[in-house]
Amino acid sequence: MQDADKRVTAVVAIDGPAGAGKSTVARRVASCLGLLYLDTGAMYRALALKALSAGLGPDDEAALVQLLANSDIHVAEDPDRQLHVWLDGRDVTDAIRRPAVHAVVAQVASLGGIRAGMVDRQRSLAEEGGVVMDGRDIGTYVLPHAPFKFFLTASLEARVARRHRELAAQGFLVPAATLQRDIVERDRMDSTRAVAPLQQAPDAHVIDTTNLTADQVVQEILAVVRGR
Ligand code: CDP
Repeated sequence: MQDADKRVTAVVAIDGPAGAGKSTVARRVASCLGLLYLDTGAMYRALALKALSAGLGPDDEAALVQLLANSDIHVAEDPDRQLHVWLDGRDVTDAIRRPAVHAVVAQVASLGGIRAGMVDRQRSLAEEGGVVMDGRDIGTYVLPHAPFKFFLTASLEARVARRHRELAAQGFLVPAATLQRDIVERDRMDSTRAVAPLQQAPDAHVIDTTNLTADQVVQEILAVVRGR
């Protein structure tokens, strides 16, 4: 794909609820297409982590907007295509996946002032070239003109099981019932917030990933993108 083509055509938006497998799939799709990958959830998580360290409550909008204005949040892949998240020059890739961050991120992300700042950053990154972006509001709000939009879903059980495995791999043994409560609550907050809620774009391809491997989902997305 030529650089100019990438800017015009290669914008892939992947949205969906917690644990639907967006980040694994989006990263692989980006790698197959040679595009930049942007995990927008990681940006909200990095700010939530900074708020926790600063002792700020997740609803203190004025202080959080100020905090965001003074934050350098950077998501980039290393040469091995591992995604790293940098907060003010510190690698916070693992820290943003801690249960404490899970617990407050949706509240931080529901604040209008925070979303405005994040969306500006996300749109300017997309303008730099072809991108695969995953989140909750990419196809509906951040990049509504994206030519390729996908909405990933999965049963609650499958999403809880995935999150359980992901956290266990990092050494966090959180009971499944707790994870389920967290996911249901985060989905509720993400879907009902006033600004850019989690929503399926009318022109999105919906993929139910419950019984699919990540590779199968990647192949389905690539077939749509390459078939255009
Ligand atoms: O990995 P998981 O799907 O659980 O979450 P994530 O993509 O890392 O996003 C964490 C949280 O950030 C979500 O629950 C949302 O509250 C928020 N978020 C958002 O509001 N908008 C986005 N575009 C991405 C994430």
